[in-house]
Amino acid sequence: MARPIIIAPSVLASDFSRLGEEIAVSESAGSDWIHLDVMDGHFVPNITFGPPVIASVRSATTLPFDTHLMISPADPYLEAFASAGSDRITVHAEAGPHLDRSLQTIAALGKKTGVALNPATPVAAIENVIDKLDLVLVMTVNPGFGGQAFITAMLDKIRQVRALVAGRDIDIQVDGGITADTAGPVAAAGANVLVAGSAIFKGGEQAYGGNIKAIRQAAEAASGSAC
Ligand code: DX5
Ligand code: ZN
Repeated sequence: MARPIIIAPSVLASDFSRLGEEIAVSESAGSDWIHLDVMDGHFVPNITFGPPVIASVRSATTLPFDTHLMISPADPYLEAFASAGSDRITVHAEAGPHLDRSLQTIAALGKKTGVALNPATPVAAIENVIDKLDLVLVMTVNPGFGGQAFITAMLDKIRQVRALVAGRDIDIQVDGGITADTAGPVAAAGANVLVAGSAIFKGGEQAYGGNIKAIRQAAEAASGSAC
């Protein structure tokens, strides 16, 4: 049976001067998780925010905080991101030489583990850690910025991840260029957690609910229709 569709708005596209309110509004609008993009200006060519900002907005919602670390190294900061209120922590396979150790650390902190794969990284990078994973994030753009075009070749990678996961209790997440148009194809390929920034935080607060619903409906309609 197909896993439930989860919509995780990326606050990267929200109004940072009102971050707590934007998170609260996206909860009321029907989000399932809040996706927090942490960038260090080293692993990716952009800088966003770190643990103090995450801690400052933790009280804005009861939804899970899904922290996507685009930082290298990640290991020295895992505890700080856990303490700040992250429920799930995703590290990049490319961010360090000791992925297995990073995953052990996240799990020991009592948080859900995730590994992200850049578009050029093969699925084989996670074969040997698959049983330590709660989530695999297939990047559908090169990380660093919102508003980029979806890379269609990643649909085949999602199918490869689905085959590797093979029914285990692991979420398959996609991030980058997700809209009501790309939601169907990624869900049909096997993704069940859809991150979207610019397609959700647009049109003013009153539009967020409709934006989320359009992505969810497209994904649910396609989910389970294997392709
Ligand atoms: C990109 C980030 C994404 C980004 C997605 O590096 O990981 O979460 O916010 O933005 P959109 O949905 O606009 O492509
Ligand atoms: Zn992200």
